[in-house]
Amino acid sequence: MSSQIKIKRVGVPDIRARKGGEPLVCLTAYDAPMARLLDPHCDVLLVGDSVGMVVHGLDSTIGVTLDMMILHGKAVMRASKQALVVIDLPFGTYEKSPEQAFESASRVLAETGAQAVKIESGVYAAETIRFLTERGIPVMGHVGLRPQAALNEGGFKAKGRDEAERARVNNEAREADAAGAFAIVIEGVAESLAREITAAVKTPTIGIGASAACDGQILVTQDMLGLFDWTPKFVRRYAQLSGAIEEAVEAYAADVKTRAFPSDAETYSFKPKNG
Ligand code: KIV
Repeated sequence: MSSQIKIKRVGVPDIRARKGGEPLVCLTAYDAPMARLLDPHCDVLLVGDSVGMVVHGLDSTIGVTLDMMILHGKAVMRASKQALVVIDLPFGTYEKSPEQAFESASRVLAETGAQAVKIESGVYAAETIRFLTERGIPVMGHVGLRPQAALNEGGFKAKGRDEAERARVNNEAREADAAGAFAIVIEGVAESLAREITAAVKTPTIGIGASAACDGQILVTQDMLGLFDWTPKFVRRYAQLSGAIEEAVEAYAADVKTRAFPSDAETYSFKPKNG
């Protein structure tokens, strides 16, 4: 008998079972070192298409490709052991038809080993969510502010400010729920709307800029770690890593310039050093 203890990953049924229970802890991850650090603390790691903006320096998520998502998804899967890993289907890879979505989603899951995909789900996407879930692909929905729709909407704007928009977001969530989404991200809506949706749907809701009224929360990890000068107003920064990195680089540059480096041959070793 093997003495190895296998850690079981959080599964889709575990996420569903958290409806109305202990809030779900979710963060984005795009690479192996960060995934390794986040994994023990998170129920869900999302390889979000925000990778295009956060890591690749794009202005929006529109230019993100399926190959990019697969590359980052593989890195996150290699370095995580217990969180459920969800991968975003990027713009242009699922909207044309349920069949197109199936091709993209099945490729993502087969090549990365992740357990689920997320799609930004306007009402039109309900058919796709049903098509994928009936064929064994777990889908997370995403309603409210949908970054892939930013071109049409003139940028990233909070949603549900008037009755018509509230009804639209409400409908998006109810349709995704009825179609079988196992969780739904609600982005950029007021607390009253997030509360109403959370009460109405049977699946857990995960808020981002949508108050604590949801069944869980997600943030872009680099935002909450303070890696950028600018973050959306709703983000609480739990660290200020940009300052720490700048200080470290300044200290390194000073050492290089003053030749303050260990130079004796014994330091040339790849033995691990902690701390
Ligand atoms: O792409 C992303 O990172 C997301 C989250 C912010 C929800 O969709």
